[in-house]
Amino acid sequence: MQQLLVLCVLLASLWTGCTGSGDWCYQTQFTCEHQCNAPEKWNHANQDCAGKHQSPVNIVTRKVLKDERLTPLRFENYQQIFRGSIRNNGHSVQVGVPHTSTVSGGGLPATYKAVQFHLHWGDNGGPGSEHTIDGEQYPMELHIVHMKSHYTDLSTALRDKEGVAVLGFFYEKSNSANKKYDPIINTLQSIKATNGNTSLPSISLAQLIPSEQNMTSYYRYKGSLTTPGCTESVVWTVFEKPIPLNLDQLKAFSKVQYHDGKLMVKNFRPVQPLNGRQVFYSGGSVVLVSSTLLMSALVTALRLSQSD
Ligand SMILES: *[C@@H]1O[C@H](CO)[C@@H](O)[C@H](O)[C@H]1NC(C)=O
Ligand SMILES: *[C@@H]1O[C@H](CO)[C@@H](O)[C@H](O)[C@H]1NC(C)=O
Ligand SMILES: [Zn+2]
Repeated sequence: MQQLLVLCVLLASLWTGCTGSGDWCYQTQFTCEHQCNAPEKWNHANQDCAGKHQSPVNIVTRKVLKDERLTPLRFENYQQIFRGSIRNNGHSVQVGVPHTSTVSGGGLPATYKAVQFHLHWGDNGGPGSEHTIDGEQYPMELHIVHMKSHYTDLSTALRDKEGVAVLGFFYEKSNSANKKYDPIINTLQSIKATNGNTSLPSISLAQLIPSEQNMTSYYRYKGSLTTPGCTESVVWTVFEKPIPLNLDQLKAFSKVQYHDGKLMVKNFRPVQPLNGRQVFYSGGSVVLVSSTLLMSALVTALRLSQSD
């Protein structure tokens, strides 16, 4: 398979010169008939994809730097129920969200409002996340894309080096179905074809992500969009706690198709070099627990000294 691919890339470059047309794709979409720019050639679609601060990255947990400023994030209007539509955009499935939900705090440089969310997945529940933790790839990853609250469109926000904040969540295989995902998963069959869109039943962002208590541990670094144009304007927050889905729910995403009818699977970009960037870690509940312990130890010590 790999050899066949290499052969056809070779032949194509000999015969056609294989000039990148700006038509980008994932590796799983590349065929001899459809010579699209797979991730290694995304710089043909946009030069920024060859930048030094690209995403996703592999997070090496023994190299992260614990940062006390990475306190729990403040979510506003994440509970708000809305009726959006879900669309197969040829690379993922995407849901536009009302610009009324915001995230701030947790060391973010501003307040950011939600714009859309989309997902990256594997093949029938196989490895599919974009970020990896110590080399481990989760079956799927959710990206909730936000822009600084004073902007009105993403393309303007992307001209600001910190204009966009993406919240990334991993998924893990669980034994029981996650009913909160039914509204999304039940619509997938009707948007199999590229450009297919359909209305979603009422959902909230809060129902798709862990509880706030379970979002206190996260990683933070500066990176880029993970699709062309690969703009390096993204403040990344990658949460440690995965969202549970069962195997059938994960598999449902692998029935969606690219525009040529091929199955949309493994629609993730491979990890990019850190090039000296530091990944920070919130410490999360570990910090909370230890400071609570410290406090109670202090209180006990005080009481003991007073009772003398
Ligand atoms: C499809 O998307 C368009 C906007 O791109 C929207 O106006 C329309 O309502 C959507 N259709 C459905 C069925 O949701
Ligand atoms: C946090 O996650 C754990 C483990 O998955 C779960 O048992 C617990 O109920 C969650 N906490 C809240 C408040 O949802
Ligand atoms: Zn994404």
